[in-house]
Amino acid sequence: MSEGIHLNLFTMNSVEHVSPGSWTVPGDQSHRYTDREYWTEVARTAERGGFDAVFFADVRGVYDVYGDDRETAVHKAVQTPANDPQLVVPAMAEVTDELGFAITRSTTYTHPYQLAREFSTLDHLTDGRVALNVVTSYLESAAENLGLAERMDKQTRYDRADEFLDVCYALWEDSWEDDAVEIDREARRYTDPEKVHAIDHEGEHFSVPGPHGCEPSPQRTPVIYQAGSSDRGREFAAANAEAVFASQPTEEGIREYMSDVKSRAADHGRDPGGLRFFIGVVPIVGETEAIAEAKHDAYRDHVDVDATLALLSGFLDMDLSELDPDQKVEHIETDAIQGTMNAFTKSQPDREWTVREVAQFCGLGTTSPTIVGTPSEVADELAYWHEEVGVHGFNVKEVVRPDSLQDFVDLVVPELRERGLLSTTDDDDGGSRGSGTLRERLHGPGNSHLRADHPAKQ
Ligand SMILES: Cc1cc2nc3c(=O)[nH]c(=O)nc-3n(C[C@H](O)[C@H](O)[C@H](O)COP(=O)(O)O)c2cc1C
Repeated sequence: MSEGIHLNLFTMNSVEHVSPGSWTVPGDQSHRYTDREYWTEVARTAERGGFDAVFFADVRGVYDVYGDDRETAVHKAVQTPANDPQLVVPAMAEVTDELGFAITRSTTYTHPYQLAREFSTLDHLTDGRVALNVVTSYLESAAENLGLAERMDKQTRYDRADEFLDVCYALWEDSWEDDAVEIDREARRYTDPEKVHAIDHEGEHFSVPGPHGCEPSPQRTPVIYQAGSSDRGREFAAANAEAVFASQPTEEGIREYMSDVKSRAADHGRDPGGLRFFIGVVPIVGETEAIAEAKHDAYRDHVDVDATLALLSGFLDMDLSELDPDQKVEHIETDAIQGTMNAFTKSQPDREWTVREVAQFCGLGTTSPTIVGTPSEVADELAYWHEEVGVHGFNVKEVVRPDSLQDFVDLVVPELRERGLLSTTDDDDGGSRGSGTLRERLHGPGNSHLRADHPAKQ
């Protein structure tokens, strides 16, 4: 295996993810998100392109902060409608051998025993190819739908998330010994009960005696993805994440984020070299510069500013319809996504952004840089981030579906492969392993389980 660039396709089981309005580009097929065939095609294409995983974002609730109602979000398909991402994974796994699946789940609106069971099941069914993207959720409307009077404050959400993962780790790592399952027909003993343990968790948010209901899956604990950007969120990432998303639009911001999370990880007794950092990118590629520029222009023409502001109002928990478009964006500490706020107020201290400029920038992929060019130019840029800035991989964000993914796989991936830049699962004599867990893709063969320095193992 060579560890080069890692790739996730960052998508959502919905019409729109983070490029509001792009579903109106002629030929776009985002409306097919309800079809199984759409997702099996995505899986095949991503696997052909050497992607490590398809990474599904997910939200509960509707973006109703903008204008204090949901009209814009519903009218313009701003992450609504959206289906459950988890349920399309078995179909995608069926048509692939190596591709991983990272699924976003909220620790605020589910129970750890339930989630541990679902992920053990998926890890079995996919032969160890799942990751859990841990979020705490930011939309007030989600809280109301799920039985709470209001959204919990961020501190409480992260406290609950800490305890939530403690319970999951105990269920996944400590409850069943490796050789608990015997399947001994003569002795009529399926499992040795001495090797299945209660976890006896009693905490502030959860009481879970265990044992886990599932036998150990190939990875036991799914690969942990996380994207916290507030102080508390970074702390949570440093303690738990194996793949971390740095969501800053500038190199300076990315460098600061990585070095801060690494030093916090060391404080948690972890080897910072065990964390993998990903940034979002929006590649727009053409065989020639002119073709790429023409696509970029067409995509920009279809950006829906109103829909983008509705999306951002949810990210920031701030009604942007109340602001003058030419007003400067002032920094706030938000109870929603701090990284989105920081992107425009902190990461470039010398630059001031107006509401209009933010909406224009975010219309294609929100806070991630757009890379427009020929395959070689896009590969140059990715190589720079990888080699000079030290990011391990990219969350590739689509604009038009499925063209953005297909363009990337057909045009950029061959260029990356030719330069030997793509992370591969090939073994030393050049053959593909043809199997392996998602954690092995990130950390090499033989590393299906959490590393020994991960807090869950200590
Ligand atoms: C790349 C990226 C992807 C995210 N995906 C989701 C998501 O799918 N669903 C969600 O509820 N939150 C998502 N978030 C939000 C965060 O995981 C986190 O809960 C949020 O940013 C609030 O915490 P913070 O202020 O510490 O960042 C994402 C954030 C980033 C940067």
